[in-house]
Amino acid sequence: MSKRPWNFSAGPAILPEPVLERVAAAVGNLRSANFWNEGIESDLSILEISHRGPAFSSIHEHAIDLVHEVVGVPRDRRVMFLQGGASLQFCMVPMNLRREGKVACYVETGAWSKKAIAESERIGPTRVVASSKETGFDRIPDAPSAEDLVDAAYLHVTTNNTIYGTEYRELPEVPPDVPLVADLSSDIASRPMALDRLGIGYAGAQKNLGPSGVTLVFGRRELLDESDPADVPAYLRYRTFAKAGGLYNTPNTFGILVLAAVLEWVRDEGGVCAMGERNERKARKIYEVLDANDVYEPHARPEDRSWMNVTFRLAGADEAERAERTSRFLSEAEAAGFSGLKGHRSVGGVRASIYNAFPEAGVDAFVEFLREFARRA
Ligand SMILES: Cc1ncc(COP(=O)(O)O)c(C=O)c1O
Repeated sequence: MSKRPWNFSAGPAILPEPVLERVAAAVGNLRSANFWNEGIESDLSILEISHRGPAFSSIHEHAIDLVHEVVGVPRDRRVMFLQGGASLQFCMVPMNLRREGKVACYVETGAWSKKAIAESERIGPTRVVASSKETGFDRIPDAPSAEDLVDAAYLHVTTNNTIYGTEYRELPEVPPDVPLVADLSSDIASRPMALDRLGIGYAGAQKNLGPSGVTLVFGRRELLDESDPADVPAYLRYRTFAKAGGLYNTPNTFGILVLAAVLEWVRDEGGVCAMGERNERKARKIYEVLDANDVYEPHARPEDRSWMNVTFRLAGADEAERAERTSRFLSEAEAAGFSGLKGHRSVGGVRASIYNAFPEAGVDAFVEFLREFARRA
Protein backbone atom coordinates (compact mmCIF):
# COMPACT_ATOMS: atom_id res chain seq x y z
CA MET A 1 0.00 0.00 0.00
CA SER A 2 1.28 3.50 -0.80
CA LYS A 3 2.43 5.70 2.08
CA ARG A 4 -0.58 6.70 4.17
CA PRO A 5 -0.86 9.41 6.83
CA TRP A 6 -1.02 8.25 10.45
CA ASN A 7 -4.77 8.10 10.91
CA PHE A 8 -5.97 9.37 14.30
CA SER A 9 -9.62 9.57 13.24
CA ALA A 10 -12.12 8.93 16.05
CA GLY A 11 -14.36 6.90 13.76
CA PRO A 12 -14.78 5.57 11.20
CA ALA A 13 -11.22 4.82 12.15
CA ILE A 14 -8.03 3.18 11.02
CA LEU A 15 -8.25 -0.49 9.99
CA PRO A 16 -5.30 -2.90 9.84
CA GLU A 17 -3.64 -2.79 6.41
CA PRO A 18 -3.70 -6.58 5.94
CA VAL A 19 -7.46 -6.44 6.52
CA LEU A 20 -7.90 -3.75 3.87
CA GLU A 21 -6.00 -5.91 1.41
CA ARG A 22 -7.99 -9.09 2.17
CA VAL A 23 -11.26 -7.23 1.97
CA ALA A 24 -10.31 -5.64 -1.35
CA ALA A 25 -9.74 -9.14 -2.73
CA ALA A 26 -13.15 -10.27 -1.44
CA VAL A 27 -14.77 -7.40 -3.29
CA GLY A 28 -13.36 -8.99 -6.46
CA ASN A 29 -13.99 -12.69 -5.88
CA LEU A 30 -14.76 -14.46 -2.63
CA ARG A 31 -13.17 -17.80 -3.50
CA SER A 32 -9.88 -16.35 -4.69
CA ALA A 33 -9.76 -14.07 -1.64
CA ASN A 34 -9.42 -17.41 0.17
CA PHE A 35 -11.03 -16.02 3.23
CA TRP A 36 -11.26 -18.65 5.93
CA ASN A 37 -9.25 -21.82 6.02
CA GLU A 38 -12.11 -23.91 4.75
CA GLY A 39 -12.61 -21.46 1.85
CA ILE A 40 -15.81 -19.95 0.54
CA GLU A 41 -17.44 -21.67 -2.42
CA SER A 42 -18.37 -18.65 -4.48
CA ASP A 43 -16.81 -16.84 -7.40
CA LEU A 44 -18.93 -13.75 -6.75
CA SER A 45 -18.06 -10.57 -4.92
CA ILE A 46 -18.98 -10.16 -1.24
CA LEU A 47 -21.08 -7.22 -2.46
CA GLU A 48 -23.37 -9.36 -4.63
CA ILE A 49 -24.28 -12.49 -2.69
CA SER A 50 -27.53 -13.28 -0.87
CA HIS A 51 -27.57 -12.95 2.88
CA ARG A 52 -29.50 -16.24 2.93
CA GLY A 53 -27.08 -18.26 0.76
CA PRO A 54 -24.38 -20.67 1.95
CA ALA A 55 -21.42 -18.35 1.33
CA PHE A 56 -22.76 -15.56 3.52
CA SER A 57 -24.05 -18.04 6.11
CA SER A 58 -20.52 -19.28 6.61
CA ILE A 59 -19.22 -15.69 6.92
CA HIS A 60 -21.98 -14.80 9.40
CA GLU A 61 -21.43 -17.87 11.57
CA HIS A 62 -17.70 -17.30 11.53
CA ALA A 63 -18.15 -13.66 12.60
CA ILE A 64 -20.36 -14.72 15.53
CA ASP A 65 -17.86 -17.37 16.51
CA LEU A 66 -15.05 -14.79 16.52
CA VAL A 67 -17.09 -12.46 18.75
CA HIS A 68 -17.18 -15.25 21.33
CA GLU A 69 -13.62 -16.45 20.82
CA VAL A 70 -11.77 -13.16 20.34
CA VAL A 71 -13.87 -10.41 21.94
CA GLY A 72 -14.65 -12.68 24.89
CA VAL A 73 -18.45 -12.71 24.84
CA PRO A 74 -19.50 -15.85 26.77
CA ARG A 75 -20.77 -18.68 24.55
CA ASP A 76 -24.24 -18.70 26.12
CA ARG A 77 -24.97 -15.11 25.04
CA ARG A 78 -26.76 -14.15 21.86
CA VAL A 79 -24.69 -12.22 19.32
CA MET A 80 -26.32 -10.15 16.56
CA PHE A 81 -25.16 -7.64 13.97
CA LEU A 82 -27.75 -4.89 13.66
CA GLN A 83 -27.82 -1.55 11.83
CA GLY A 84 -28.60 1.98 12.97
CA GLY A 85 -25.35 2.46 14.87
CA ALA A 86 -24.95 2.72 18.61
CA SER A 87 -27.45 5.59 18.39
CA LEU A 88 -30.29 3.18 17.58
CA GLN A 89 -29.31 1.20 20.68
CA PHE A 90 -29.87 4.35 22.72
CA CYS A 91 -33.58 3.82 21.83
CA MET A 92 -33.77 0.03 21.62
CA VAL A 93 -32.37 -0.50 25.11
CA PRO A 94 -35.09 1.47 26.92
CA MET A 95 -37.80 0.28 24.52
CA ASN A 96 -37.03 -3.36 25.25
CA LEU A 97 -35.82 -3.27 28.85
CA ARG A 98 -38.27 -0.94 30.56
CA ARG A 99 -40.38 -2.66 33.18
CA GLU A 100 -43.57 -1.59 34.99
CA GLY A 101 -42.69 0.23 38.22
CA LYS A 102 -38.97 0.35 37.40
CA VAL A 103 -36.69 3.20 36.39
CA ALA A 104 -33.99 3.15 33.71
CA CYS A 105 -30.74 4.20 35.44
CA TYR A 106 -27.78 5.84 33.71
CA VAL A 107 -24.26 6.95 34.51
CA GLU A 108 -23.62 10.28 32.78
CA THR A 109 -20.03 10.52 31.56
CA GLY A 110 -20.23 12.72 28.50
CA ALA A 111 -21.90 13.47 25.20
CA TRP A 112 -22.83 9.92 24.16
CA SER A 113 -24.27 8.98 27.53
CA LYS A 114 -26.29 12.23 27.44
CA LYS A 115 -27.79 11.16 24.13
CA ALA A 116 -28.62 7.73 25.55
CA ILE A 117 -30.27 9.39 28.57
CA ALA A 118 -32.29 11.75 26.35
CA GLU A 119 -33.68 8.81 24.36
CA SER A 120 -34.59 6.91 27.51
CA GLU A 121 -36.40 9.99 28.86
CA ARG A 122 -38.60 9.99 25.76
CA ILE A 123 -39.59 6.42 26.47
CA GLY A 124 -40.15 6.19 30.21
CA PRO A 125 -38.98 6.96 33.76
CA THR A 126 -35.23 7.59 33.75
CA ARG A 127 -32.74 8.57 36.44
CA VAL A 128 -29.11 9.67 36.33
CA VAL A 129 -27.50 7.82 39.25
CA ALA A 130 -23.94 9.11 38.83
CA SER A 131 -22.39 11.89 36.80
CA SER A 132 -19.11 13.66 36.19
CA LYS A 133 -20.80 16.69 34.62
CA GLU A 134 -19.70 19.03 37.43
CA THR A 135 -16.04 18.43 36.69
CA GLY A 136 -16.40 18.79 32.93
CA PHE A 137 -16.56 15.01 32.33
CA ASP A 138 -12.90 14.65 33.25
CA ARG A 139 -13.48 11.40 35.17
CA ILE A 140 -15.50 8.25 35.71
CA PRO A 141 -17.78 8.94 38.71
CA ASP A 142 -18.02 6.54 41.66
CA ALA A 143 -20.30 3.62 40.91
CA PRO A 144 -23.90 3.95 42.15
CA SER A 145 -24.72 2.08 45.35
CA ALA A 146 -27.22 -0.78 45.68
CA GLU A 147 -29.69 1.75 47.22
CA ASP A 148 -29.39 3.97 44.15
CA LEU A 149 -30.47 0.99 42.09
CA VAL A 150 -33.32 -0.49 44.20
CA ASP A 151 -35.94 0.22 41.54
CA ALA A 152 -33.62 0.02 38.50
CA ALA A 153 -34.83 -1.65 35.29
CA TYR A 154 -31.13 -1.66 34.31
CA LEU A 155 -27.96 0.39 34.71
CA HIS A 156 -26.42 1.87 31.55
CA VAL A 157 -22.77 2.91 31.29
CA THR A 158 -20.51 4.11 28.47
CA THR A 159 -17.24 2.25 28.92
CA ASN A 160 -15.10 4.67 26.94
CA ASN A 161 -16.01 8.29 26.42
CA THR A 162 -14.76 8.98 22.95
CA ILE A 163 -15.18 12.76 23.10
CA TYR A 164 -13.84 13.50 26.61
CA GLY A 165 -11.23 10.72 26.73
CA THR A 166 -12.19 8.87 29.91
CA GLU A 167 -12.57 5.13 30.31
CA TYR A 168 -13.70 2.62 32.90
CA ARG A 169 -10.78 0.42 33.96
CA GLU A 170 -13.25 -2.17 35.34
CA LEU A 171 -16.92 -2.61 34.58
CA PRO A 172 -18.96 -1.59 37.66
CA GLU A 173 -20.55 -4.17 39.96
CA VAL A 174 -24.36 -4.20 40.05
CA PRO A 175 -26.89 -6.09 42.21
CA PRO A 176 -27.70 -9.48 40.62
CA ASP A 177 -31.25 -8.51 39.62
CA VAL A 178 -30.16 -5.33 37.77
CA PRO A 179 -28.93 -5.92 34.20
CA LEU A 180 -25.81 -3.93 33.37
CA VAL A 181 -25.98 -2.44 29.87
CA ALA A 182 -22.85 -1.03 28.27
CA ASP A 183 -22.14 1.11 25.24
CA LEU A 184 -18.76 -0.37 24.30
CA SER A 185 -18.48 1.46 20.97
CA SER A 186 -15.03 2.89 21.40
CA ASP A 187 -13.16 0.32 23.48
CA ILE A 188 -14.60 -3.06 22.57
CA ALA A 189 -11.89 -5.68 22.00
CA SER A 190 -9.21 -3.23 23.17
CA ARG A 191 -8.33 -5.25 26.30
CA PRO A 192 -9.78 -8.09 28.37
CA MET A 193 -13.09 -7.08 29.96
CA ALA A 194 -15.48 -8.93 32.27
CA LEU A 195 -18.18 -9.10 29.59
CA ASP A 196 -19.94 -11.86 31.51
CA ARG A 197 -21.15 -9.12 33.86
CA LEU A 198 -23.22 -7.52 31.12
CA GLY A 199 -26.91 -8.03 30.51
CA ILE A 200 -26.50 -6.35 27.13
CA GLY A 201 -23.45 -4.87 25.40
CA TYR A 202 -23.41 -2.98 22.13
CA ALA A 203 -20.89 -1.26 19.91
CA GLY A 204 -20.92 0.53 16.60
CA ALA A 205 -18.23 -1.30 14.62
CA GLN A 206 -16.48 1.72 13.15
CA LYS A 207 -13.67 2.06 15.70
CA ASN A 208 -12.22 -1.27 16.79
CA LEU A 209 -14.29 -3.76 14.78
CA GLY A 210 -14.73 -2.67 11.19
CA PRO A 211 -16.60 -0.17 9.04
CA SER A 212 -19.64 1.93 9.93
CA GLY A 213 -23.07 0.43 9.33
CA VAL A 214 -22.72 -2.64 11.57
CA THR A 215 -23.59 -2.62 15.26
CA LEU A 216 -22.60 -5.53 17.42
CA VAL A 217 -25.28 -6.33 20.02
CA PHE A 218 -24.88 -9.20 22.46
CA GLY A 219 -26.43 -10.24 25.70
CA ARG A 220 -28.32 -12.62 27.89
CA ARG A 221 -30.96 -14.56 26.04
CA GLU A 222 -33.68 -13.76 28.55
CA LEU A 223 -33.21 -10.06 27.77
CA LEU A 224 -32.81 -10.28 24.00
CA ASP A 225 -35.00 -13.25 23.08
CA GLU A 226 -37.80 -13.06 25.59
CA SER A 227 -38.55 -9.39 26.06
CA ASP A 228 -41.68 -8.77 23.96
CA PRO A 229 -43.06 -5.25 24.42
CA ALA A 230 -46.31 -5.20 22.43
CA ASP A 231 -46.23 -1.49 21.63
CA VAL A 232 -42.74 -1.53 20.10
CA PRO A 233 -42.53 -1.95 16.29
CA ALA A 234 -41.12 -5.27 15.11
CA TYR A 235 -37.91 -3.76 13.77
CA LEU A 236 -37.09 -2.18 17.14
CA ARG A 237 -37.55 -5.35 19.19
CA TYR A 238 -34.53 -7.48 20.01
CA ARG A 239 -36.76 -10.54 19.93
CA THR A 240 -37.50 -10.01 16.24
CA PHE A 241 -33.82 -10.32 15.36
CA ALA A 242 -33.11 -13.00 17.94
CA LYS A 243 -35.86 -15.27 16.57
CA ALA A 244 -34.43 -14.83 13.05
CA GLY A 245 -30.88 -15.76 14.12
CA GLY A 246 -29.88 -12.11 13.67
CA LEU A 247 -31.05 -12.07 10.04
CA TYR A 248 -34.53 -10.55 10.22
CA ASN A 249 -33.87 -8.34 7.22
CA THR A 250 -30.87 -7.77 4.96
CA PRO A 251 -27.89 -7.00 7.21
CA ASN A 252 -24.73 -5.13 6.25
CA THR A 253 -23.19 -8.20 4.61
CA PHE A 254 -20.00 -6.42 3.59
CA GLY A 255 -19.53 -4.87 7.03
CA ILE A 256 -19.91 -8.25 8.72
CA LEU A 257 -17.18 -9.71 6.49
CA VAL A 258 -14.86 -6.84 7.39
CA LEU A 259 -15.65 -7.30 11.08
CA ALA A 260 -14.73 -10.99 10.85
CA ALA A 261 -11.47 -10.12 9.09
CA VAL A 262 -10.64 -7.54 11.79
CA LEU A 263 -11.30 -10.06 14.56
CA GLU A 264 -9.10 -12.63 12.83
CA TRP A 265 -6.39 -9.98 12.78
CA VAL A 266 -6.88 -9.29 16.52
CA ARG A 267 -6.70 -13.05 17.22
CA ASP A 268 -3.53 -13.44 15.13
CA GLU A 269 -1.89 -10.48 16.87
CA GLY A 270 -2.33 -12.24 20.23
CA GLY A 271 -5.96 -11.45 21.09
CA VAL A 272 -7.38 -8.89 23.50
CA CYS A 273 -4.64 -9.55 26.09
CA ALA A 274 -1.95 -8.50 23.62
CA MET A 275 -4.14 -5.58 22.46
CA GLY A 276 -4.54 -4.42 26.07
CA GLU A 277 -0.80 -4.45 26.73
CA ARG A 278 -0.07 -2.65 23.49
CA ASN A 279 -2.85 -0.10 23.96
CA GLU A 280 -1.78 0.73 27.49
CA ARG A 281 1.80 1.22 26.36
CA LYS A 282 0.77 3.37 23.38
CA ALA A 283 -1.42 5.60 25.56
CA ARG A 284 1.19 5.87 28.31
CA LYS A 285 3.82 7.10 25.86
CA ILE A 286 1.58 9.99 24.80
CA TYR A 287 0.35 10.92 28.29
CA GLU A 288 3.95 10.99 29.56
CA VAL A 289 4.92 13.68 27.05
CA LEU A 290 1.74 15.64 27.72
CA ASP A 291 2.39 15.58 31.48
CA ALA A 292 6.03 16.56 31.03
CA ASN A 293 5.32 19.72 29.01
CA ASP A 294 3.33 22.69 30.32
CA VAL A 295 2.14 23.59 26.86
CA TYR A 296 -0.18 20.57 26.94
CA GLU A 297 -3.18 20.21 29.27
CA PRO A 298 -4.61 16.68 29.27
CA HIS A 299 -8.36 16.71 29.88
CA ALA A 300 -8.95 13.53 31.91
CA ARG A 301 -7.69 12.95 35.43
CA PRO A 302 -4.87 10.41 35.38
CA GLU A 303 -6.68 7.40 36.88
CA ASP A 304 -9.55 7.56 34.37
CA ARG A 305 -7.62 8.33 31.21
CA SER A 306 -8.69 6.53 28.07
CA TRP A 307 -6.29 4.23 26.25
CA MET A 308 -8.29 4.82 23.07
CA ASN A 309 -8.84 8.59 22.84
CA VAL A 310 -6.21 10.92 24.28
CA THR A 311 -7.71 14.39 24.67
CA PHE A 312 -5.86 17.57 25.52
CA ARG A 313 -5.79 21.31 25.03
CA LEU A 314 -2.95 23.66 24.24
CA ALA A 315 -2.12 26.04 27.10
CA GLY A 316 -2.35 29.79 26.62
CA ALA A 317 -2.61 33.03 28.61
CA ASP A 318 -6.13 33.49 27.25
CA GLU A 319 -8.58 31.85 24.85
CA ALA A 320 -7.10 33.69 21.86
CA GLU A 321 -3.62 32.30 22.52
CA ARG A 322 -5.02 28.80 23.09
CA ALA A 323 -6.91 28.99 19.81
CA GLU A 324 -3.90 30.24 17.89
CA ARG A 325 -1.67 27.49 19.31
CA THR A 326 -4.28 24.80 18.70
CA SER A 327 -4.68 25.76 15.08
CA ARG A 328 -0.89 25.94 14.60
CA PHE A 329 -0.51 22.54 16.28
CA LEU A 330 -3.15 20.97 14.04
CA SER A 331 -1.85 22.41 10.81
CA GLU A 332 1.78 21.50 11.58
CA ALA A 333 0.66 17.99 12.55
CA GLU A 334 -1.26 17.59 9.30
CA ALA A 335 1.77 18.74 7.33
CA ALA A 336 3.93 16.23 9.22
CA GLY A 337 1.62 13.35 8.23
CA PHE A 338 -0.69 13.08 11.28
CA SER A 339 -4.34 13.26 10.29
CA GLY A 340 -7.64 13.40 12.20
CA LEU A 341 -6.33 15.07 15.38
CA LYS A 342 -8.91 17.84 15.73
CA GLY A 343 -10.93 17.47 18.94
CA HIS A 344 -14.67 16.86 18.69
CA ARG A 345 -16.54 20.01 17.67
CA SER A 346 -18.27 20.14 21.08
CA VAL A 347 -15.05 20.37 23.14
CA GLY A 348 -12.32 21.58 20.76
CA GLY A 349 -8.64 20.99 21.46
CA VAL A 350 -6.84 17.89 20.23
CA ARG A 351 -7.87 14.25 20.28
CA ALA A 352 -5.55 11.42 19.31
CA SER A 353 -7.60 8.27 18.75
CA ILE A 354 -5.28 5.30 18.95
CA TYR A 355 -7.51 2.27 18.51
CA ASN A 356 -6.25 -1.31 18.16
CA ALA A 357 -5.17 -0.88 14.54
CA PHE A 358 -3.17 2.29 15.20
CA PRO A 359 0.48 1.17 15.00
CA GLU A 360 2.93 1.78 17.81
CA ALA A 361 5.36 3.25 15.26
CA GLY A 362 2.76 5.98 14.62
CA VAL A 363 2.58 6.72 18.34
CA ASP A 364 6.39 6.95 18.52
CA ALA A 365 6.43 9.38 15.59
CA PHE A 366 3.66 11.45 17.21
CA VAL A 367 5.49 11.53 20.56
CA GLU A 368 8.51 12.96 18.76
CA PHE A 369 6.29 15.57 17.12
CA LEU A 370 4.78 16.50 20.52
CA ARG A 371 8.26 16.95 22.03
CA GLU A 372 9.43 19.03 19.12
CA PHE A 373 6.33 21.26 19.16
CA ALA A 374 6.71 21.80 22.92
CA ARG A 375 10.35 22.86 22.44
CA ARG A 376 9.26 25.56 20.02
CA ALA A 377 6.05 26.66 21.79
C1 LIG B 1 -19.17 5.83 22.84
C2 LIG B 1 -20.02 6.11 21.62
N1 LIG B 1 -21.32 5.82 21.65
C3 LIG B 1 -22.12 6.06 20.59
C4 LIG B 1 -21.63 6.61 19.44
C5 LIG B 1 -22.56 6.86 18.28
O1 LIG B 1 -22.37 5.85 17.40
P1 LIG B 1 -23.12 5.73 15.99
O2 LIG B 1 -22.60 6.82 15.13
O3 LIG B 1 -22.71 4.35 15.55
O4 LIG B 1 -24.58 5.83 16.23
C6 LIG B 1 -20.27 6.92 19.35
C7 LIG B 1 -19.71 7.51 18.11
O5 LIG B 1 -18.62 7.94 18.02
C8 LIG B 1 -19.45 6.68 20.48
O6 LIG B 1 -18.15 6.97 20.45
